[in-house]
Amino acid sequence: MSAFRIRPATGEDSRVLADMLVEAVNGNAERARSRVNVLEDPSFVRYIAGWKRPGDFGCVAEDANGVAVGACWARLFPADDPGSGFVAVGVPELTLGVYRQWRAQGAGRALLRELALAASAHGYARLSLSVERTNFAQRLYTSEGYVAVASGANADTMVRTVR
Ligand SMILES: CC(C)(COP(=O)(O)OP(=O)(O)OC[C@H]1O[C@@H](n2cnc3c(N)ncnc32)[C@H](O)[C@@H]1OP(=O)(O)O)[C@@H](O)C(=O)NCCC(=O)NCCS
Repeated sequence: MSAFRIRPATGEDSRVLADMLVEAVNGNAERARSRVNVLEDPSFVRYIAGWKRPGDFGCVAEDANGVAVGACWARLFPADDPGSGFVAVGVPELTLGVYRQWRAQGAGRALLRELALAASAHGYARLSLSVERTNFAQRLYTSEGYVAVASGANADTMVRTVR
């Protein structure tokens, strides 16, 4: 296990969340949409726009020097403008990413677990997400209690109960 710690995400973490959004959009595939391409796409940028809004919550993993390792956060979407992993009003949708040099060292799982605790502390009963079926992260989510509830052409929507 590497040396990192996890803290709540604050309004100062927009840059880290933007970095991790770009990573999440690109997943584990080699194909890469550029940062600008992702951050100018309304269907993606809505996961971080205006961070940190009321209702937003998340966590950031940092190394021993306080440098961000990765982040996991969640946001609510309305039924008339749902996120890719929308299941119901009042169920926050999460995004997860870890900087490449820090992957496969336990940060992703640790962030996911911390976010579930934070969701419960915020009074939410469920968390949702969308993941491409080719992304190994789907196995990580399954092992953390997420269950596929809907399938699109390439991605599944998954949900877990947090309390
Ligand atoms: C998905 C991601 C967040 C996982 O974070 P991570 O810190 O690398 O994951 P962890 O080290 O906590 O490992 C979690 C599990 O995944 C497995 N894993 C890690 N890297 C893997 C890889 N490249 N291929 C297959 N499995 C892998 C680990 O073995 C671990 O399982 P185990 O506990 O049974 O051994 C990270 O790889 C990432 O940022 N990917 C790009 C963004 C992304 O795809 N986000 C999700 C979008 S839905």
